[in-house]
Amino acid sequence: MSITPPKERIWWREPIAKVELAWILIAFVWGLFMFFMMIYWHGAGKQNLSNEAYKTTPVAYARKAQAVVDEHTVRQESGFPVVHPPPGSDVYLIARLWQWWPILELEKDQSYRLHLSSMDWQHGFSLQPVNINIQVHPGYDMVLTIKPDRAGEYGIVCNEYCGIGHHTMVGRLYVVE
Ligand code: CUA
Repeated sequence: MSITPPKERIWWREPIAKVELAWILIAFVWGLFMFFMMIYWHGAGKQNLSNEAYKTTPVAYARKAQAVVDEHTVRQESGFPVVHPPPGSDVYLIARLWQWWPILELEKDQSYRLHLSSMDWQHGFSLQPVNINIQVHPGYDMVLTIKPDRAGEYGIVCNEYCGIGHHTMVGRLYVVE
């Protein structure tokens, strides 16, 4: 019985019991199955985003983001620039304590390369209500190739606890026709 100490002091030299072997096999086969399902779901399940990651620095990343903001800002909303970059271009979103900057305005059915990086520490990009989630780290430029298929106003919340203002770290993203 497993709730009493083993009879032999050198208990690990004993042959594996059939039941234990069966469970090891079941766990191993299940693990293998889920491993291949992960690859399958990537394509068929539409759950995981295809992304690329590059090394960067907060300073270098902020410079690129600022250049796009300077060139393509169309208006201001509550102190944030609303940026309408040309379809097919690289768009940058900055995560920092405690905001998503700037507000992006994208066109429906157009493809963009969306860059995400943090200026300080880890944040979680969570696009609502479509529930697209990705971790945002300082020093890494995460790139998602996206093609918005529904016009409307989307919310960006931070879903990685990042300090006292975490709950106020909300942003906006527009998709226009
Ligand atoms: Cu940023 Cu929580």
